[in-house]
Amino acid sequence: MVEDGVYVYNETHEGKNVDKESGTLHEKCKTGIEELDRKLGGGIPVGNSVLMVGSSGSGKTTLSMQFLIDGARHGERGVFFTITEPLFKLIKNMENFNFYDKKLIEEGKVNIIDLRIISDRLGLDTEKYTVDDANALLDVLKDIADELNVKRLVIDSITALCYRLQSKEMIRNFIFKLGASLASTDCTTILTSEVPPNEIKYSQYGTEEFIADGIIFLGDVNRRGDIIRTLQIIKMRGTAHSRTKSAMSISSKNGIELAPLLKSRE
Ligand SMILES: Nc1ncnc2c1ncn2[C@@H]1O[C@H](COP(=O)(O)OP(=O)(O)OP(=O)(O)O)[C@@H](O)[C@H]1O
Ligand SMILES: [Mg+2]
Repeated sequence: MVEDGVYVYNETHEGKNVDKESGTLHEKCKTGIEELDRKLGGGIPVGNSVLMVGSSGSGKTTLSMQFLIDGARHGERGVFFTITEPLFKLIKNMENFNFYDKKLIEEGKVNIIDLRIISDRLGLDTEKYTVDDANALLDVLKDIADELNVKRLVIDSITALCYRLQSKEMIRNFIFKLGASLASTDCTTILTSEVPPNEIKYSQYGTEEFIADGIIFLGDVNRRGDIIRTLQIIKMRGTAHSRTKSAMSISSKNGIELAPLLKSRE
């Protein structure tokens, strides 16, 4: 049921959500960002792969990490595959946020893995992948996720991964294999996607969105000289959701937060 652009749901004692209209039961994976969960009718449907789209600095990495940390706090193990930022830099940036909890990393509840190190260990050229390399990497990703029995997975970014493939066809094949691989698990996944600023497009190569069950777009709007961060759910299979653009803020204290976006008076 949608009221004022926000999906209203009942939470049962099992922590599952019942759609008031259809009576169907959806298992939801809370993102840990209260307002986003409300917009999603409780959270991301379990098992969905979500493309987190935005230009550089839009908050993709922060939001994805907050999602993993919150899951770990609630007993769901997660893995973060980074390919854009080296591990030490990523951790240094995340340490600025109150939500970051070193203990969860040390206890293996959130695992952060540098894909370049994995590529290196596999003996792959870390900057360019052949079809075999890409397949080997996919197998390793899947093995790690299975072995750790993760319920939440992040690849940051799918764009940087595809960049290492040599042709559009290779990217297409890789994306569809990745999609099939993710679909066979009950793991909820965020794939970050870098796009140029001020462009309404969801992926660099035009293929990434085809395997996505959901798309969340991080953008910005100009309000009388101030640039305001925004978040909008473009699609989310398996749930009714708000499509209203929200104002988004990033702070050390609260990480990512959403608030209503006031209509411009200009
Ligand atoms: N501690 C902090 N407090 C407030 N804002 C912060 C803090 N740390 C980072 N930011 C803001 O968040 C932005 C970076 O967010 P993040 O790294 O999540 O973006 P991204 O979309 O992953 O960027 P990229 O595409 O470059 O990887 C910074 O540019 C800065 O504006
Ligand atoms: Mg990033």
